[in-house]
Amino acid sequence: MKIWAKRLALFCVGLMLLGGSSAWAGATIKLGVVTKPGSAQNVCAEKFKELLEARSDYQVKIYHSASLGTETQILQQIQMNTVQMGVITAGPFDVFIPEVRVINYPFLFADAREVDQVLDGPAGQKLLKALEKARFKGLAFSENGFRHLTNNVRPVHTVDDVKGIKIRVMESVLHKELWRLLGANPTPMGWPIYTELQQGTIDAQENPLWVIWTYKLYEVQKYLSLTGHVYSAHIDVANLDWFNGLPAADQELIQRCMQEAALYQRQWNRDNEADFLSKLKAAGMQVNEHPDLATFRARVSDIRNLDIYAGSEVQAMLEAFLD
Ligand code: PAF
Repeated sequence: MKIWAKRLALFCVGLMLLGGSSAWAGATIKLGVVTKPGSAQNVCAEKFKELLEARSDYQVKIYHSASLGTETQILQQIQMNTVQMGVITAGPFDVFIPEVRVINYPFLFADAREVDQVLDGPAGQKLLKALEKARFKGLAFSENGFRHLTNNVRPVHTVDDVKGIKIRVMESVLHKELWRLLGANPTPMGWPIYTELQQGTIDAQENPLWVIWTYKLYEVQKYLSLTGHVYSAHIDVANLDWFNGLPAADQELIQRCMQEAALYQRQWNRDNEADFLSKLKAAGMQVNEHPDLATFRARVSDIRNLDIYAGSEVQAMLEAFLD
């Protein structure tokens, strides 16, 4: 080693010892969310930033409002480590890791209590671990919430009312297949989609109430049916190799901050849901609060036998979640 290089190395070690902290202290973590401030993902990301910055020298820079592209593109950037972390809807993960189709299984959870039991238990941990195959470190589950259908064609009460409707779905294998089974005409697209709804390129979309309110979809969608067909989690992830390269104490801290942020955000979502519904009604949406869900369930009862759930690992994950 040249003399100047030795000196530089010693100087760096000296600095680290003096500061009593790691070479990562003060590093900036790039975190991507597709949504805009005020959205569920952003609430989680901002809480994480607040907690981590208060407890360490890390800085968290949040890239939001689709500035990094779609959720699929953010996941690719996390894989490349040009972005280290993300709060991403579970849907688009299932292109990378088929096991994630399990968490998007239709009508899987009855309510938030059941969601928490499963996601915070062994099945949730197993799913977070499975993400490592695609080089993601699964840190926690925050939530998007239960997804409901909006459209511009007709009020939807039974599954037959969905027939032929052009619906935007997430870039997700499960979501596309689900809406095909239900009889609609699904088109996968990234987010946002206001213009496509406004221009009539698509007639329908499905999302939790906070999305319909925050993105003003009530201006371009007339009918809302509370179908709750899929519970939509966010999976809060980091690049696996970046994460594993951090000192153990930092890994533990980042994980803990994200878990706390996720729990805080789930509560935020639940506390605000009734309010979002009232606002959507007041804004003039025609709401069917009790669609005939039995007709929807019947149409998808065989979904677990389709190719999208084939393979021993996916089936094992399904067993863990359906148990
Ligand atoms: O439909 C989607 O793409 C997602 O639900 C959204 C709106 C990005 C929120 O997570």
